[in-house]
Amino acid sequence: MTSASPLYGPNKLKLGTFGLNVDGACAITSIDGMFHPTWDNVLDLTGAADAAGFEALVPVARWRGFGGETNFNGACFETYTWAAGVAASTRRAGVFATSHVPTIHPIVAAKQATTIDHISRGRFALNVVCGWFEPELEMFGAPVMSHDDRYAYAAEWLDLLKLLWTSQEEFDHHGRFFDIKRGFHQPKPIQQPFPPIMNAGGSGVGRHFAAKNCDMIFVHIKGQDIEAARRDIEEVRELAYASYGREIQIWANCYCVIDDTDAKARAFRDWYVNEKGDWTAVDNLVRSLGIQTGVLPKEQLEAAKYHFIAGWGGYPLVGDAGRIADEMGKLSSVGLDGALISWPRYGEGLRRFIREVLPRLESAGLRAPVS
Ligand SMILES: Cc1cc2nc3c(=O)[nH]c(=O)nc-3n(C[C@H](O)[C@H](O)[C@H](O)COP(=O)(O)O)c2cc1C
Repeated sequence: MTSASPLYGPNKLKLGTFGLNVDGACAITSIDGMFHPTWDNVLDLTGAADAAGFEALVPVARWRGFGGETNFNGACFETYTWAAGVAASTRRAGVFATSHVPTIHPIVAAKQATTIDHISRGRFALNVVCGWFEPELEMFGAPVMSHDDRYAYAAEWLDLLKLLWTSQEEFDHHGRFFDIKRGFHQPKPIQQPFPPIMNAGGSGVGRHFAAKNCDMIFVHIKGQDIEAARRDIEEVRELAYASYGREIQIWANCYCVIDDTDAKARAFRDWYVNEKGDWTAVDNLVRSLGIQTGVLPKEQLEAAKYHFIAGWGGYPLVGDAGRIADEMGKLSSVGLDGALISWPRYGEGLRRFIREVLPRLESAGLRAPVS
C-alpha cells in the first residue's frame, strides 16, 4: 500500500472536521458565528485545521435543506468539487468527498476521485453514503430504494470503483445494477491500491458493508456511556476481523462546546439549543430518519432532538479545555481511533480547540505536535 494520507499516520487519536460545506455545519440553530458556506470561510477553516494537523476534512453530502426558519443545510457546496478546491489549498490533511451513491455513476465517481487524489498528491478519501433523506433523493427523479437494497447497490458501486482504480485491463461488467462495456480508467489514483474509504452505516447491514468494504467505520455512542462505547467498538472490530479478516479504524462523530468553565459551556449549549434551536427543522430531520414518537419514548425522542440541534447527534465534548481533553482521552482509551468534530460557532470553537485542547492531547501522548 502507498498513501500520503495522514489517516494512516501515527497519531493515536485522529481528528477531523465535519460539515465545512453546509450551512450551519452540524448545529441546527440560529446563533451568530455559525458556519456559512462561502468559499472564503471554507478556505479559512479547512486551512486552520490543516495547519493544526487534523487528519480528516469531511463534508456532508446534501442536496436540499430541512426547512424551518433556518432551512438547515439548505445552502451547501457539492462535495467532490469542494474536495478538489480544498485539496489544492491544503498541505497535509486527508480531504474527503462524501458521495451519495445513487446520485452518481461509478465511472464518473472513480474519475473524480482519482483526479482529486492527484490534485491533493495522494490525500483523497471517500465517504460512501447510501442516502436516507427522501426529499433530496426524490429530486433526482428515481424511486428511493429500500434500506437494504441501497447497501446492495452501494456494494456493487464500490466494487466497480475499486475495479476501475486497480484493473490494468479493460473489463466488462454485467451486474444487478450496472452494465459496463470495456471499462477503462487511467491514470490510476496516486494512493495504491486506492484511497481510504469511509462509511458511517449504523444498521446491521450498514455495519457489514463498512466492515467488509471500508477502512473507517463510525460508532454512535449512546447516552455518553463510555463502557457501552467500549463494547460497541470491540464488537465492530471483531465483526470486521472475524467475518472479513480486516482491520479497520473506528471513529465517532462528536460536537464540541468549549468555554472557560464546564458550567458556562453547558449553559451556552442549553441556550443555543433551547432558545435558539430550529425545532421545526429538527422535527423534519428526525421524521426523515424514522425517529419519532412511537419508535422512541417521548423523553428519549426529546433528548435525541436536543443533541441533533447541539451537533448532529454526536458525542458531546462540552466543558473547559481540560474537560474536553479528558473526555477525548476516555474515548481513545476505549479503542476509538478518531473523532470527527464540529462546533456551533465553528471558527471560534475550532481555533480555541487548537489553542487550548490540542496541546493537552499532545501532553497526554494522544497526538504529536505538527512538525
Ligand atoms: C459521521 C457521519 C457522517 C455521515 N454523513 C452523511 C452525509 O453526508 N449524507 C448522508 O445522507 N448521510 C450521512 N450519514 C448517514 C450514514 O451514512 C448512515 O446512513 C446512517 O448512519 C444510518 O445508518 P444506516 O444507513 O446503516 O441505516 C452520516 C453519518 C455519520 C455518523
